[in-house]
Amino acid sequence: MKQGYRRGIVHTNIQLATDVYEMKLMPHGDNNRDTSLRIEDRLGFQGNPGQFYMLRGWQLDPLLARPISICNISNGMVTFLYEVVGKGTRMMSELKAGDTLELLGPLGTGFDLELGGRLALISGGAGMAPLIYLKNRLENDMDFYCGFQSEPYYIDEIEKGVDNIYITTEDGSAGHRGFVTELFTPERYDTVITCGPTPMMKEIVKICGKHDIPVYMSMESHMACGIGTCLGCTVETTSGILRVCREGPVQLGKEVVFDD
Ligand SMILES: Cc1cc2nc3c(=O)[nH]c(=O)nc-3n(C[C@H](O)[C@H](O)[C@H](O)COP(=O)(O)OP(=O)(O)OC[C@H]3O[C@@H](n4cnc5c(N)ncnc54)[C@H](O)[C@@H]3O)c2cc1C
Ligand code: FES
Repeated sequence: MKQGYRRGIVHTNIQLATDVYEMKLMPHGDNNRDTSLRIEDRLGFQGNPGQFYMLRGWQLDPLLARPISICNISNGMVTFLYEVVGKGTRMMSELKAGDTLELLGPLGTGFDLELGGRLALISGGAGMAPLIYLKNRLENDMDFYCGFQSEPYYIDEIEKGVDNIYITTEDGSAGHRGFVTELFTPERYDTVITCGPTPMMKEIVKICGKHDIPVYMSMESHMACGIGTCLGCTVETTSGILRVCREGPVQLGKEVVFDD
């Protein structure tokens, strides 16, 4: 096992929709009682909304662990929500209850938990994961806008504790047909928080810029080390180059320099 990594055991790994899964992991040890295990493998999972873990549920191939946001933590058990897009996430989806993973984290910056006023949370696809953990930890008035390509999922989890939920699907199979940005009314909010495909977040930053509403976004980037040493995850911001794994993934939208 690589240095710094700990073990987790799959509690459940459930398919929610086509290529979308929810995985819950327990610590490797049982409530600190099994003293034959390393202390870090026995502790409950920790982390704040917006933070992520590097996960690997395989030996050598793929070479690198994969970053996945914390979707919830409860009683030391961590929940991840992930979409299968390639080899690593496909292998995650094949894990069964009782299988072991290696994890590094929690990593990165979290969201500001002191935000006042009315919030809009806006997700695209599995980008809902960090926003679900965030709304579970906040008591603000808030609305959740969630965009899907097709069949919606995890709605029961999204709607807990929010005032309104707005659903869009690109194929019109549920909710409003089109993009989540078409339903969103920025003037109603003091702060907007978003996670999803970069074109969606770019559009939200643009819309909110016209109304001078701050947007916090959780950025995506390819990652190798996850701890700030390889410089594989950098993005350009108005104040220079930023490592998504260390200074991000949460960043003020107006400071991000988007590619055209
Ligand atoms: C901080 C952070 C948190 C994340 N949280 C989640 C989460 O909660 N749930 C979730 O489903 N996914 C999340 N991701 C994305 C996830 O890490 C990637 O989808 C995953 O690493 C893909 O691995 P793979 O081996 O399945 O696919 P690969 O074989 O590595 O790639 C398959 C395809 O996906 C693209 N891709 C891979 N990684 C990324 C990336 N980071 N950004 C954009 N495109 C990518 C590749 O270019 C390729 O086209 C997060 C990414 C970051 C940086
Ligand atoms: S992934 Fe290595 S510096 Fe960010």
